[in-house]
Amino acid sequence: MQNTTTTARHNMYAVIHKGLRAMMGEALSAAGRCDWSDAADSGRTLAAVRELADFCASHLAHENEFVHPAMEARAPTTAMAATQEHVEHVAAIERLRTQMALIEALDPCVRTVAGEALYRELATFVGDNFLHMHDEETRHNAVLWATYSDAELQAIHQALVSSLSPDEMRQAMRWMLPNASHQERVELLGGMRGNAPAAVFDATMGMLRGLISAADWQKLILALQLETAAAA
Ligand SMILES: [Fe+2]
Repeated sequence: MQNTTTTARHNMYAVIHKGLRAMMGEALSAAGRCDWSDAADSGRTLAAVRELADFCASHLAHENEFVHPAMEARAPTTAMAATQEHVEHVAAIERLRTQMALIEALDPCVRTVAGEALYRELATFVGDNFLHMHDEETRHNAVLWATYSDAELQAIHQALVSSLSPDEMRQAMRWMLPNASHQERVELLGGMRGNAPAAVFDATMGMLRGLISAADWQKLILALQLETAAAA
């Protein structure tokens, strides 16, 4: 087994979990700031929490379909705990959706108590997910790295990514790219440039430009060897 302290193994969780943590943090902060009596503010906040709920539901479904069977195939029972936690997360997502529907049924001027209850429920969901993702990035990766080669892990990861709908892919890029490291961003975009239609790559760059700092943008353009004007 390789020395995982100094040799980077293929980590299929790393960047998507950075995106998820950022999305969770932003949705939770928005819910904490929200003036629930303001129809526009509460509408925006509920849309952000719904987007998060949908993203989390699809993310865990993809892990169930591609990652857990791979673990169970070579190390039986190792994915059982996370599979059970996913069942709990699905129930928590449904509770959040129910709470949001109840808030929407109320007149904005009486939404505050229910809105604050949603904020607390979302905080526990985010807390549970942070612990869950840590377990996946440590214990799960240890199992995957001990039982699969990097080439095999890349193939499993690629099968998962290929199963995403265009909307799921757009959403994943929206949250992964601005919250990944420079190196991870270059790798993701380099892969996209080589495999996706030029229009998809250009649209992704256009989306990203407004989401990262000018310094990070310049560094990215340089690394991808793009003309700033052409990528604008
Ligand atoms: Fe998971």
